Parts: sequence; structure tokens; C-alpha cells
Amino acid sequence: MVIKEKIEKRKQICCIGAGYVGGPTMAVIALNCPDYDITVVDINKKRIKSWNGDIEKLPIYEPGLSEIVHKTRNKNLFFSNQVDQAIKKAEIIFMAVNTPTKQEGEGKGMATDLSFVEDCAKRIAMNSESNKIIVEKSTAPLGTAMRISEILQTNKMPINFEVISNPEFLAEGTAINDLQYPDRVLIGGEETKNGNRAVEKIADIYRNWVSDDKIITTNLWSSELSKLASNAFLAQRISSINSLSVLCDVTGANIKQVSRAIGADSRIGDKFLEASVGFGGSCFKKDILNLVYLCKFYGLDEVSEYWHQVVKINLYQKNRFVSRIIENLDNNIRNKKITILGWAFKKNTNDTRESAAIDVSTRLLKKGAKITVYDPMVSKESIIYDIKENFKDQMTSKFLSKIKFSDNILSAAKDSDCIAILTEWDEFKSIDWSKVSKNTSSLFIADGRNILDSEQIKNSVDKYISVGNSKF
Ligand code: UDX
Ligand code: ADP
Repeated sequence: MVIKEKIEKRKQICCIGAGYVGGPTMAVIALNCPDYDITVVDINKKRIKSWNGDIEKLPIYEPGLSEIVHKTRNKNLFFSNQVDQAIKKAEIIFMAVNTPTKQEGEGKGMATDLSFVEDCAKRIAMNSESNKIIVEKSTAPLGTAMRISEILQTNKMPINFEVISNPEFLAEGTAINDLQYPDRVLIGGEETKNGNRAVEKIADIYRNWVSDDKIITTNLWSSELSKLASNAFLAQRISSINSLSVLCDVTGANIKQVSRAIGADSRIGDKFLEASVGFGGSCFKKDILNLVYLCKFYGLDEVSEYWHQVVKINLYQKNRFVSRIIENLDNNIRNKKITILGWAFKKNTNDTRESAAIDVSTRLLKKGAKITVYDPMVSKESIIYDIKENFKDQMTSKFLSKIKFSDNILSAAKDSDCIAILTEWDEFKSIDWSKVSKNTSSLFIADGRNILDSEQIKNSVDKYISVGNSKF
């Protein structure tokens, strides 16, 4: 009896969506909040099965994640397909479902597809029999919390729903560290008595491991806009430094030196100033396009164009990288072999969404090249999926026959006409290029991440291009 009461008193959290946001976030909450039971649910049965399966093969790779799941799983962290049941039981429901860019209809290619969020809200409305706090976790456009509230009103029981915006700022590859030691936790709610109470309840969860001065509370709109704006600022820095890298390539300036000089100004800071082949990831492009769409909606054309330029420069940067490879291969890459080192959008993740490797490889294939891909963490199936998605049935099979996969660098690079480094994996930093050069007639490296030292590789490499440094 005593045990039963104890169990009933435990606070119940449900998280809908067991992806890159839901999985790691709930694992860290479970670790820090032993008084809460957390059930992460998903409609994707395969994903849940693998969250419950071999600890070394969780569906998401993040340094430190498997250790936390190992400590908490089936103690106060549970993964399940029983979505309705978990909704019924929970007092707090986090929504961490996907919010991709719309592929059709009004706002196609720009606005966010809210159908997953809306489905989720409908399911909550249908299954709720007690008061609930709904926490919008995934990045969503301004006004999403309002939209969720509207849908929840279809529940006619005498119960109260409070919708809170609590955007996630974790970056993939460092998710666990970002969650354990966040710069800030942002919680936005309605400025009413119930709204404030709900904000406090969410703040209480984080207070288990985050100090009060890092918990920022705002109204709903500010919270939603701050998330978009944070990502837009970060991406803007990358596009700014990438735009300058182009100038470096045509002058004698070196982007690493410029970046260091700029970043030394404490008002600017040194983070997110690394020039690259272009940013990727599920958030930056999507969030900026969202901002662009929002500004257009309100007739703010100049503001909209300002932010749109960040995405345009990113595309320009990827295309320019491909053009430089082609120029360096006598303007003809037909049937030439190009080795792609790295498919993930950054190191330490198996996520490939919006990865520069996808656009770069697609363009190379369209120009007639054959490619061989090596990535230490991304599966062959994911790469094929990405290529298929990018070609969208335009003779996909013809292009797929021109892609090979390798499980090691040396075999991937054999007889290659060009080796393009597209992800900054640590293992690419210490490749013995003298070994690689033995298996190529002329070793040409296109370093899209500026991870190699041109002085060090000089003796084994015939040609080297990087981003924003013309010297070799
Ligand atoms: C980003 C935000 O950082 C995070 O706060 C938000 O919650 C989600 O979006 P993420 O996309 O996971 O996180 O990774 P991030 O580290 O921001 O990198 C995004 C892309 O920019 C990667 O492709 C990365 O390689 C690239 N990048 C980053 C650069 O090209 N140069 C840099 O200086 C930094
Ligand atoms: P993110 O990077 O935002 O976490 P992911 O695509 O990795 O995005 O994860 C989102 C997860 O949400 C997916 O596993 C998807 O199956 C799940 N999902 C989407 N809609 C629903 C829903 N209505 N109910 C339960 N899970 C959902």
C-alpha cells in the first residue's frame, strides 16, 4: 500500500517524439530528476525498439548518451509506442516531433509543415482526462503555441491545458554537454495566473540541475521568436565568414587569420567563425526560411531579404566548392572518381539532414562524376536515402549506380581523382597522406573544412584547395 502511494505520487512526464531532440533531452532530464517518471513515445516502432535494444546501437549517436540511457532506462526513463496511454497518465507533455519545411501548398519550400505538431495536439486533445501542461520543444514558427491551444480546445472535458514554449538549444554532437550545462533555459508562457504557474512547474524540472540565473522566462511570442533568432544569428555568422572566404580565395588573405583577428574582439567573440563548405543540419536553413516567410507575411520585405541572404550565401558556398573542384580537374569530371570523406552534417553525429555532402555529391554526380563515400558513422542506407530524396526520381537509379561505399579511408581513396573532405571528423585530421598517395596517380585534396595543414601535407599531396586560403 505504501509502495503504491509512493508510485502514484511520482510526477509523470511524457515526451512525444523519440528523435534527436526528444531522446537526448529526456535522458538528461531523467538523469537529473529522479522524482519524475519519463515516458518517451513515438509512432515509429522501429525507433522505439532500438531505444529499448542494444545500448551500443541506440537510434541516435551522441557522445555520452548511451551511458545516461544505461543508467536511467527502465528506472525512470521508458520508451514506448503506447502514445495514448502515456498522454493520459502524464501531467506534463513535451512535444518533440519533427517540423520539416512544407513541400506543398501555401508557403511551400519556406514555411514549416506543422502537420506533425497538429496531429500530436489532436491526439492529446482526444486522450486527456486531467489538467496538462503541453511543452513545445521542437523548433516551430511563431504562433505555434496558439495553434496548439486552439486544437486542445476541442477536448470538451472540464480540464485545463497550458501551452508552454521551451525551445531546445542543443547542438548535435555536443547534445549531452549542452543539456547538462546549458547557457540558458528559455521558458515562455501566457502572462496569466495559470500560465505563470505552468512556467514555474517547467522551471522546477530544470532547477534540479540548472541555476536560477540561467532560467529565462518570457511571454510565448518572445520565446518562440528567440529560438528562431538564435539560430538565425548563428547561421548568419557562418555565412558572413564564408562570404569573406571567397574574398580570401581571390586575394592573398587567409580566412583563418582573418577569423582569429575578428574573433579576438570580445564584442564579437570567436565562436561560429569557421569557414566551411557550408552549414547543414535540420535547423539553420529551416528556421531562417521560417523567419523569411514570417517577415514576408507581415509585409517586411527588406527584413525578409536580409535574412534570406544568409541561406543564399550558403548555397553559393556549396556550389562554389563544386565549381572549384571541377576547375581543378581540367573542367571535366565525367567518369572521374571523387572520394567523399564525411557525409554527416558535422562531426560526432550520424545525422545527415541538410548536410553539405548531399548537395555537393548530387552536383558532382550530375556533372558525370563517380563518387565513393566514406563516413565513420553514417550508414550506407542513410546515404542512399539522401541521394534519392535529393534527386526526387530524376533518373535516380542511373546516379545510384555511380555511387560506391567504403568502410575505410584507404580503399575509398584508391585511384581517386579528387578527395573532398566534407565533414570535420577527427580521424580525417591525422590521415597518412603519403600512404594514400601511393594508390593515386596524382593526389588532389579539396578540404571543405580547413582541417589540414597545407605545410604539413605539402610533400605527399600534389594539389590542395581549401576554403579561404589560396596558398599551397
Ligand atoms: C544548431 C544550433 O547550434 C543549436 O543551438 C540549435 O538548437 C539547433 O541548431 P546544430 O545544427 O546541431 O545546432 O549544429 P551546429 O553546431 O550549430 O552546426 C550547424 C552547422 O554549421 C554544421 O554543419 C557545422 O559544421 C556548421 N558550422 C558551425 C560551420 O560551418 N562553421 C562554424 O563556425 C560552426
Ligand atoms: P528532431 O530532430 O526534431 O528530434 P526527429 O525527426 O529526429 O526530429 O524526431 C521526431 C520524431 O517524432 C520522429 O521519430 C517521429 O516518428 C516522431 N513523431 C512525429 N509525429 C508523431 C506523433 N504524432 N506521435 C508520436 N511521434 C511522432
